[in-house]
Amino acid sequence: MLPDVRVILFTGKGGVGKTSVAAATSVLSSQMGHGTLIMSTDAAHSLSDAFDMNIRPEPTEINKKLWGVEIDINEQVGRHWGAIHDFLTQFLKHRGFDSIIADELAIMPGMEEIFSLLAVRHYAEDERFNTIIIDCAPTADTARLLAIPDIAQWYMEKVFHIERKIVKTIRPFAKRIIDTPLPTERVFDSVEILYQSILGVRDLLVDRTRTTIRMVVNPEKMVIKEAQRAYTFLSLFDFGIDAVVVNRLLPEKIKDPFYDKWKEIQAEHMAFIHESFMPLPILTVHFWDEEIIGYDLLSKMAKEIYNKKDPTKILHKEKPINIYPSDGHYVMEMPLPFARREDMETWINEDELVIKFKNFKRNIILPRSLAKRELYKAELKDRTLKLFFEGETNA
Ligand SMILES: Nc1ncnc2c1ncn2[C@@H]1O[C@H](COP(=O)(O)OP(=O)(O)OP(=O)(O)O)[C@@H](O)[C@H]1O
Ligand SMILES: [Mg+2]
Repeated sequence: MLPDVRVILFTGKGGVGKTSVAAATSVLSSQMGHGTLIMSTDAAHSLSDAFDMNIRPEPTEINKKLWGVEIDINEQVGRHWGAIHDFLTQFLKHRGFDSIIADELAIMPGMEEIFSLLAVRHYAEDERFNTIIIDCAPTADTARLLAIPDIAQWYMEKVFHIERKIVKTIRPFAKRIIDTPLPTERVFDSVEILYQSILGVRDLLVDRTRTTIRMVVNPEKMVIKEAQRAYTFLSLFDFGIDAVVVNRLLPEKIKDPFYDKWKEIQAEHMAFIHESFMPLPILTVHFWDEEIIGYDLLSKMAKEIYNKKDPTKILHKEKPINIYPSDGHYVMEMPLPFARREDMETWINEDELVIKFKNFKRNIILPRSLAKRELYKAELKDRTLKLFFEGETNA
């Protein structure tokens, strides 16, 4: 049984304001009466900076009903990866790697973030918290990382158990024939336990009634592109995305000619954000004349973003994009409630799918495998757009 908890993850390119927006959200959530925990999965923690206080590796009280935690990554890695790490180090050393290098290599990139996600499940069981806000690491790969449980599941089901059996059978003879170290039962047990914990978080993270992801962007081209990519990828893996937060919009009241041009550029990017993420709600926050540090400023920021609404509400429930194989080709499906087929044009431009209607446009980055295929049919029925891509599916 999954604990009754609400989880909100904030993701986006480096420096866009993820930590500030996540922290602001946690403040408002606690003010609305929800016991709230904010944690970062980023090894370079910055919650302490955002709140301007010392947030420890165990839940630290920030204010009434609000706690923060900066996970001790080394402790997490030791706990979940200890035996596996020892084996990999031994194995790599055997392959001729220097022991320091072997030790480094035995931790894979992104793994620290995965281990902090494991802590989410642990805190979800804590009765003090009914909302957990997660400030993700500044990388385009957070999305990929979130998909790791699916990949782990594939590996465990298809490879692991067989491998374990083989090793068990050959271990008594292997020593005499090969001198490569073989994983011990303890290593296999650790993998099994780690896998179970990963599955535990996965169940929580893909449960759209509990967990949603909010994307933080700035009105800048590269930032939006990266968010579009994450959006498609996360949709593919069925994660619930329920809002986009546009941070650092120039305030209307600035009248300087230097900023007029910038305001124009931002307005264009804002239109593109609507085209790219519709029908998700787009929340906005302006560029402040100071850094947003400390409880009071974060609280003010949250009021601007959420307009006094409860930030823990699921802001959008519908699945934005659905991709599935059907009769030897791929179908991409999305809700389009206010459109008519005869007004619609669709085309693919490199990896981008453009859907144009009389009065609006949608831009979606296609998953790699679809971008290479030809779009041969588009159908609009029951308020749903269905796009058919040619080619074999290997499903
Ligand atoms: N709307 C804003 N107006 C003014 N300053 C802002 C705004 N949003 C964020 N900042 C400031 O910008 C800096 C970076 O913000 P923040 O740390 O939230 O970004 P981040 O996306 O978490 O960065 P990283 O990718 O490094 O984790 C902080 O000093 C923060 O106070
Ligand atoms: Mg940050």
